[in-house]
Amino acid sequence: MTSHSHTGTGPLRLGVNLDHIATIRQARHTPYPDLMHAVRLAEASGADSITLHLREDRRHIQDDDVFGIKPRLARPLNLEMAATDGMQTIALDLLPEACCIVPERREELTTEGGLDAHGQRERLREFVQPLTAAGIEVSLFVEPDVRQLEAAVAIGAPVVELHTGAYANAREPELRERLLRELFDAARIGHDMGLVINAGHGLDYDNVRPIAAHPLFHELNIGHSIIARALFTGLPEAVSHMRSIMDATRRQGA
Ligand code: PXP
Repeated sequence: MTSHSHTGTGPLRLGVNLDHIATIRQARHTPYPDLMHAVRLAEASGADSITLHLREDRRHIQDDDVFGIKPRLARPLNLEMAATDGMQTIALDLLPEACCIVPERREELTTEGGLDAHGQRERLREFVQPLTAAGIEVSLFVEPDVRQLEAAVAIGAPVVELHTGAYANAREPELRERLLRELFDAARIGHDMGLVINAGHGLDYDNVRPIAAHPLFHELNIGHSIIARALFTGLPEAVSHMRSIMDATRRQGA
């Protein structure tokens, strides 16, 4: 969400992805763990927005989750979804504050690559237009690639979320440095084009630091590492610890 300045001087926002709470629940089709309970704890512990990915295969988040939670949220809802007619109908009914469009393949473990916004410019322009007209802030989840940024502008999406997965997975220091540079270059170019720059995927308590220190990122969306830590520390500590690392590194980096 862009309620704060995105010129590089504003605070860095944390979007907490709670899909894995639903993953555990769906493993046994029990009523617990209670997703709304997790939402309340995340909001109270420093989440600036709540991200839920309603996947085509409904492997974790369900329709009832998003419709049940939306009116009870204290913070904006960022609905992650594929660019399908069915998801567009749901988004227009639900009216989340933000929508992040992601590519989806049913067999993937998680979102594996960025959206090919460049290759699907015409279709995505038509897809995004009614969402924007309904007041939803649309973001495209893309690789740090200039063509994808240009496509986001052409499509009319005000926000991009840069895919940090390759950077997060890189073990070799030189590769990691190069991929970080690509993210920073894309953030600069996209920002100069007028786009709001978010980032996410694979970020953890260590690799988040250089990203958080960079002034052009507006919001980071983080799920897996936070929920994994929460198993041992509880969700409030896991969220507030991420929040404090982001705040401290942003202050130092600015
Ligand atoms: N951003 C997008 C677009 C995603 O698809 C995901 C994973 O659902 C995330 C961020 C969060 O990634 P992770 O769970 O690895 O922190």
